[in-house]
Amino acid sequence: MDIYKINGGKKISGDIPISGAKNAALPIIVGSLLADGTTILTNVPDLMDIRTTIKLIEHLGAKTSFDNETNTLTIDAKEIINGEVPYDLVKTMRASIYVMGPLLARCREADVSLPGGCAIGARPVDIHLQGFEKLGTDINLDHGYVKARTKGLKGALYVMPKVSVGATINLIMGAVLAEGETVLENCAMEPDVVDLGNFLIKMGADIQGLGTERIAVKGVASLKAVEYHIMPDRIEAGSYLLAGAAVRGNIRVTDIVPDHIEALLDSLKEMGFQIKTGPDWASVAPSDNLRGILVETTPHPGFPTDLQAPMMALMTTVPGISVMVEHIFENRFTHVAELHRMGAQITIEGKCAIIKGGTSLMSAPVMMSDLRAGAALVIAALAAEGETEIRRIYHCDRGYEKLCHKLSAVNADIRRVTGGM
Ligand code: EPZ
Repeated sequence: MDIYKINGGKKISGDIPISGAKNAALPIIVGSLLADGTTILTNVPDLMDIRTTIKLIEHLGAKTSFDNETNTLTIDAKEIINGEVPYDLVKTMRASIYVMGPLLARCREADVSLPGGCAIGARPVDIHLQGFEKLGTDINLDHGYVKARTKGLKGALYVMPKVSVGATINLIMGAVLAEGETVLENCAMEPDVVDLGNFLIKMGADIQGLGTERIAVKGVASLKAVEYHIMPDRIEAGSYLLAGAAVRGNIRVTDIVPDHIEALLDSLKEMGFQIKTGPDWASVAPSDNLRGILVETTPHPGFPTDLQAPMMALMTTVPGISVMVEHIFENRFTHVAELHRMGAQITIEGKCAIIKGGTSLMSAPVMMSDLRAGAALVIAALAAEGETEIRRIYHCDRGYEKLCHKLSAVNADIRRVTGGM
């Protein structure tokens, strides 16, 4: 298995171009199954989760070709079948559950393995299932599989009991070809949901209220295959800004939508960093007056849970006490034990992490436990003195395209080495 070797303490500086958004690309690739033509997607990041999703839709009958030089994915979804989606696929990537919407719309049935728990929390899919029941689907659980059957999806009102990105996306995909109007309340407002919605609108869907708590979808008879450019990855952009801040470098992330990372930029400003933005870029630079802050993760437009671990790595370097409160997932502090091994002073009390910042981090052998915990370790290693070895880097391969290459280009001393444990 590959590992990263990072020699920390170097000031990284320069521009980092940001790739297409993983969490928008995943549902959009699955959403292409809603039209029986050839969809062309550009700005698709070359990531493990994308490769898994391509396998998933091929399993359902789609024919694909992915050009990773131009990041263009072509999907021919003329023939789609309800090929039972196996546990092995779903357990590596929970977004597999997104196939329910398109399969129910096109085949009137969907058999998908239940995802089960994952490293960051229990992550149930009850809201997805309850929503599909409201849209006229019979749901049965059979030996770990969801067996969903419908005589034709029908529009309905569904007030989601909790804000869920995945359930909002899945139910929009179910509603676009349903008979009549669906109104979803308490929707997720994440840019990824909006990007999926814009893709569906381009295909001919009738969707109102994207980016608000109330989304209304009027079902149409059919959708046409289109060409679509995936939006930039706000979490990748945020992670590199945090890396720049942690080493007191000057980093500019380009090809982004600055509004998507407003909560992060506000937090960095509050900590004392100098932030500048342009139409499609944002930059961070250090100042002499840095201080600890309180950050709470909440659904968009609040501070994203996916930047919680990377932000915590930065907090360990900033003088004073910082507090991080994680409201979205119940077990998203697995990076803390590894940061302790690098000398970080962090105490966990329930949902809160209290970080005594400003102590210098030291290199240590550490291990990634999930994607964003992995990004936190990379940031800590860049800031630490000495050479840090990071294991299980396949987690980062799921969500950061060309991480090693992008960081080396701004002067980081990072190598990917084959053959570690
Ligand atoms: C999406 O996961 C993202 N994944 C996650 O990104 C992200 O952390 C999360 O949204 C929150 O922003 C993708 O887009 C593929 P949720 P999702 O449904 O949709 C609970 C990353 O690192 N819930 O918004 O699974 C759930 O347990 C990742 O890129 C239910 O109780 O998240 C959580 O506490 C990991 N029942 C909360 O809602 C349900 O049916 C929010 O989860 C669904 C969710």
